[in-house]
Amino acid sequence: MKLALASLLIGSAAAFTASSSAGYSTALKSTVTETYSFTKSEEIFAEAQTLMPGGVSSPVRAFKSVGGNPGAYAWDVDGNKYIDYVGTWGPAILGHADDDVLDAVKKTMDKGTSFGAPCALENELAKAVIDAVPSVEMVRFTNSGTEACMGMIRLCRAYTNREKVIKFEGCYHGHADAFLVQAGSGVATLGLPDSPGVPSSATKATLCAEYNNLDAVKAIFEDNKEEIAAVILEPVVGNSEFLEGIRELCTANGAVLVFDEVMTGFRVSYGGAQKYFGVTPDITTMGKVIGGGLPVGAYGGKKEIMEMVAPAGPMYQAGTLSGNPLAMTAGIETMKKLREEGVYEELERKSKMLVDGIVATAEKHGLPISGDYAGGMFGWYFVEGPVKNFQQATKANAETFGKWHRAMLERGVYLAPSMYEAGFMSMAHTDADIERTIAIADEVMATL
Ligand SMILES: Cc1ncc(COP(=O)(O)O)c(C=O)c1O
Repeated sequence: MKLALASLLIGSAAAFTASSSAGYSTALKSTVTETYSFTKSEEIFAEAQTLMPGGVSSPVRAFKSVGGNPGAYAWDVDGNKYIDYVGTWGPAILGHADDDVLDAVKKTMDKGTSFGAPCALENELAKAVIDAVPSVEMVRFTNSGTEACMGMIRLCRAYTNREKVIKFEGCYHGHADAFLVQAGSGVATLGLPDSPGVPSSATKATLCAEYNNLDAVKAIFEDNKEEIAAVILEPVVGNSEFLEGIRELCTANGAVLVFDEVMTGFRVSYGGAQKYFGVTPDITTMGKVIGGGLPVGAYGGKKEIMEMVAPAGPMYQAGTLSGNPLAMTAGIETMKKLREEGVYEELERKSKMLVDGIVATAEKHGLPISGDYAGGMFGWYFVEGPVKNFQQATKANAETFGKWHRAMLERGVYLAPSMYEAGFMSMAHTDADIERTIAIADEVMATL
C-alpha cells in the first residue's frame, strides 16, 4: 500500500482506527470553497469526552483554543480527507503507514512484541543514533520523550551533584513535574508550577530564562554559582550565536548542556539541530522520529556521563517496555530511509515552498505574518516578525489563528490546533499538496 498523499491519517485517532478505510479513498474536495461536515466525528468525540479527560489521550490534541474538536479529524468516519501537517506530532516523517516500516514491524511482531531482555535490535538502533548525533556516545532508550527528559534531568543532577536547572520560557520538555514551569514575563523568573498537582517543591530548583537572551542566563549563573546542574533547551528556536554562548557558559560553569531534540532530532537534519547549527551539547534527549511512529524516547551523551546510569552506574532509571523489539524495528527502518540521499534537502525544499507561499499569501491580504523553517519543521505566527522567543510569540493574534485554523480544516488542511506548535513536513507530501494548501490559504486569508 503506497499512499499517494500525506493526508491519509491512518492511526491518528481512536475513532479513526476503529472505522473502515472507506474514507481514505475519498478525494479532497475538488473546489476549495466546499467545506466539510463533521457529524459522525462530533458524535464520537462527545462520547470520548465521557470516557477520557477532555476526550483525548494527550492534551494538545484537544481543540479548545481554536474551536471544534479532534473528532473532526476522524476523516474516515465522515469521509473527509486532509493534507496532514501534524504527522502524529512529528514522528510521521515518511508519511503515515510507510510500506517498508510496516513490513519490518510485522515481521518482528511475528516473533513476539516484548521480552524484557536485551535484544539485538536495540544495538542496531543505538548504533544508528550514535553514528548520527554528534553528542551521543552512549544511549538509553525509554518509551517517550517525557521519560527521556525525566531520566536526563536525574542524570544531570547525579553527574554534577547539583540540583538547580535552567530552562527557557515556552520550551516544553514533557510533563514531568520539574519541567512544568513556563514562568511569566521577566528576564529570569524563579519557577512556579504551571499545572495544579505539581508541588512547588518539585519546581523549586527549576529556574526559567527568556529564550535567545544570553544575559539572562549569565545573570542566573552569577546568582547561583556552582549550583547549576544543567541548562536545558529546545535548540531549534535558537540561532547559532545563542547556542554557542550557552555552550561556553555551561563549560565555564561546570554545568551540563542539554539539547532536548525530541522534536528536532532526525527532523531538521539527520544529526538533529546540533548538526544543523554546529553546536554540540553534553546530553541529548530524543523521541518522535526515532520511534518511527511507535513509542520510543532516548537520552544519550558522553560516555563519561552516561556511565552514571544504572546498571553501569548508580543513577536509577528503568522501563518494562523500554527498547522493545517492535518500537526498535520501526525506528531502525525509518532511519534507514532517512539516510537515503537527499532526504533532508527535499524536506527543507518543501518546508520552504510552503512557508514562502503562506507568507506571500498573507502579505497579499495585508495580514502580518512571520514564518520560518528548518529541515522538515516549519511554522508561522500572525504577527510582524521576527519571533525569537516565547514573549514575542504570545503577541501573535490568537483570534486570527483560531479562525484560520478552523477554515483551513474545513477545506481539508490539517494544521496543529495551537498557534505555538510547529508544522511537520513529510517525505509523502507532494508539491501538488503544497500548492493546494497555498491556494486554500489564499481563499481563507481573504476572509480573515
Ligand atoms: C521538545 C520536546 N520534549 C519532550 C517532549 C515530550 O515527548 P513525549 O510527548 O513523547 O512524552 C516533546 C513532545 O512534544 C517535545 O516536543
